[in-house]
Amino acid sequence: MATGKVSIDGRVVDSGEARVSVFDRGFLYGDSVFEVFRTYSGVPFAQREHLERLQRSADRLMIPMPVSMETLSSEVAATLAAAGEGEWYVRIVVTRGTGPLTYDLSTATAPLRVIIAAPVSVPPAEHYERGIAVSLLHASRPTDDERASGAKASNYLANLLAVHEAKQKGAQEALVLGRRGQILEGASSNVFIVKDGKVRTPEPQPGILVGITRATVIAAAAAAGIEVEEGEVRPEDLYGADEAFLTSSIREVMPVVAADGRTIGSGAPGSLTKRLHEGYLRAVAQATGSGV
Ligand code: PDD
Repeated sequence: MATGKVSIDGRVVDSGEARVSVFDRGFLYGDSVFEVFRTYSGVPFAQREHLERLQRSADRLMIPMPVSMETLSSEVAATLAAAGEGEWYVRIVVTRGTGPLTYDLSTATAPLRVIIAAPVSVPPAEHYERGIAVSLLHASRPTDDERASGAKASNYLANLLAVHEAKQKGAQEALVLGRRGQILEGASSNVFIVKDGKVRTPEPQPGILVGITRATVIAAAAAAGIEVEEGEVRPEDLYGADEAFLTSSIREVMPVVAADGRTIGSGAPGSLTKRLHEGYLRAVAQATGSGV
C-alpha cells in the first residue's frame, strides 16, 4: 500500500523514515507555518495560491523562506513523483528551524522545510449526501492575536480542542465565534449561509483564515451568476438559514444541516450548496485537467 513520501530540506524519504530534530522550534513552540492542498488526477489544485499564502504566513511570523517559490514547487513535484500513482494530501511546513532553548527568535538561523505527501483521506460520501452538524463555541487561537493574524501558523491546539468539544456534542466541525459573538470560521474551514437565494460568508477579519476554497467558491458562484455577499454572520443567521455549508481544500463544499441541535432549512443539503459544489469541481477540473 502506498504510504507516501516526505521531503525534508529537499531530500525525499519514505514517510516512516522522516525525522526532524527535537530542537526544532516548530516542535518546541509551534513556531512554524503550513499549507494543505490536494491532488486531483495526481495534479495539485491551487498550488500557486497555497505557496503564496505560505509566503505571506512566513512573512507575518518573520520566518525567512529558505528557498524560492520555484524551488519549493519543484520539491513538491519531486515528492509527488516519488509518491507515485494515487491522490495525495500535500502538507508543506516551514519552521524557524533549530536553535538553543531560548525564546529569542534570532537564535534560529536556518528555517526547515518539510513537504508531506500522504494518501488523501476525504470525508465519507454520507456527509455530502446527508450533510453534517456543527457546534458553535468560543476558542482563543494564536492567530486571533494581532501579531499572527491572518497567518496559517501551525499551533492548532485551540482548534483541535474545539473540534473535540464539537464531536462530544455530536457535531463534526466546530464554528469559532468572535469577540462580538459573530461567527468567524470553522476549526479548519470557512463557513457560508444561504437565505432567500442570497449567499453570505463572514468578511475577512482577524480570526479568519481567508480560504483558497472560499475564494474558488466565490468565483464559481460569480461565474454562475450567483452573488456572494461578505458580511457579518450571527449565530441566529445560521440557525435561521435555508442552507449552510463549509469549505476547505480537503472537504471542498460540505453541506451543514444542523447547528447546536437546531435543524437548518429542510434538514437536507440545499440545492444552491450542491450547485456551488459542482461549480467548485468544474474549477478544479479546469485547473488540473482532471475528470472530477
Ligand atoms: N485548513 N480556516 C482554517 C482555520 C483552516 O485551517 C482552513 C484549512 C480553512 C480553509 O482554507 P482552505 O480553503 O485554503 O483550505 C479555513 C486545512 C485544510 C487543514 O487544516 O487541513
